[in-house]
Amino acid sequence: ESSKTRQLITLHEKAAEIYHHLLMHTTAGQEALDYLLKRGLTEELIIEYQIGFAPMQREFLEKIFKNEQLSAEFFADSGLFVVRDDGQLLDRFYQRIVFPIRNAQGKTIGFSGRWFETPDFPAENQPKYLNSPETAIFNKREVLFNLDKARGAIRKTGEVFLFEGFMDVLAAWQSGIQNGIASMGTSLTQQQVTMIERMAQEVIFAYDGDNAGVEATHRGIELLKESSQLKVTVLQFPERLDPDDYIRKYGGEAFQQLANHGRATVFAFKMAYHRLNRNLANENDQLEYVEVLLNELIEVDSLIEQDRYLTQLSTEFQISREVLQQQVRQLKQQGR
Ligand code: UTP
Ligand code: MN
Ligand code: MN
Ligand code: MN
Ligand code: MN
Repeated sequence: ESSKTRQLITLHEKAAEIYHHLLMHTTAGQEALDYLLKRGLTEELIIEYQIGFAPMQREFLEKIFKNEQLSAEFFADSGLFVVRDDGQLLDRFYQRIVFPIRNAQGKTIGFSGRWFETPDFPAENQPKYLNSPETAIFNKREVLFNLDKARGAIRKTGEVFLFEGFMDVLAAWQSGIQNGIASMGTSLTQQQVTMIERMAQEVIFAYDGDNAGVEATHRGIELLKESSQLKVTVLQFPERLDPDDYIRKYGGEAFQQLANHGRATVFAFKMAYHRLNRNLANENDQLEYVEVLLNELIEVDSLIEQDRYLTQLSTEFQISREVLQQQVRQLKQQGR
């Protein structure tokens, strides 16, 4: 660990502390705190995760850090500022709720800031979440939000819930699911898969129930299949809800129930997935759908599972089981 790394982490931890103080104990942070409480986060959780508020000032951190013996170049490389053409440093995060992003050792290495609407600051052409840029200590491709806190529960159960967003991880945590993590709004990377594989045997995808979430789940499943031995299951959220929405609408217990007893197999997910852009009242679409699924079925290892889905397809589409089975055998031979 170089001294620059240490100093960067120290700077981030100081910023996190100050942002958190502003959120909890100042009038400047009141609207942000109200927003979080209204979304159902408890004060206990806000403290546990050291969530904060970056005020509506672009020279806030400069004042805070003015006595640090650090170079302008160091500040510029920290990711906490944007550098104006004339060299002036401006706070990157302002008028946002800030979530500290921690590495696996629990050290703060970056932030994600959420824009929230107030009467004075309505929605603008701003990204909803603004993340730290890549720095010497922050590499998005290998960050997994909450890994530091979730690691114990992941090791103990051998299972990890993979969410799209921080708010999903936090809502799940409050509902008692403490082995949840999220990538930084990017699709899953090879590095992250490697990290997960060191701790868990099963990944439970819990991405958003909208189309983007379902597509991301599909891509994630393919990546895990190609690059890991991990068992994969999927939580499917109704009404395009994301896990956080679902918990707010149906409660933490309903979510626990779904998380523990409502996991779909990869094939069951694929059945839903391949229905998305097809109209199964149409005969052409039906036949195409059955063919696509048989192609997926040859990748199911368990014969018992295969048998069950063959029966299901045969019944739903009135195709003889023998024919389906024969087709599966053919596809398997072609695949060799
Ligand atoms: P979502 O749009 O699903 O946000 O993006 P969310 O997690 O449900 O957040 P809330 O409930 O509206 O507050 C999923 C993830 O994608 C990344 C963030 O990491 C977010 O958690 N994202 C999204 C960004 O990085 N930037 C954005 O502008 C939007
Ligand atoms: Mn989403
Ligand atoms: Mn979402
Ligand atoms: Mn959400
Ligand atoms: Mn596929």
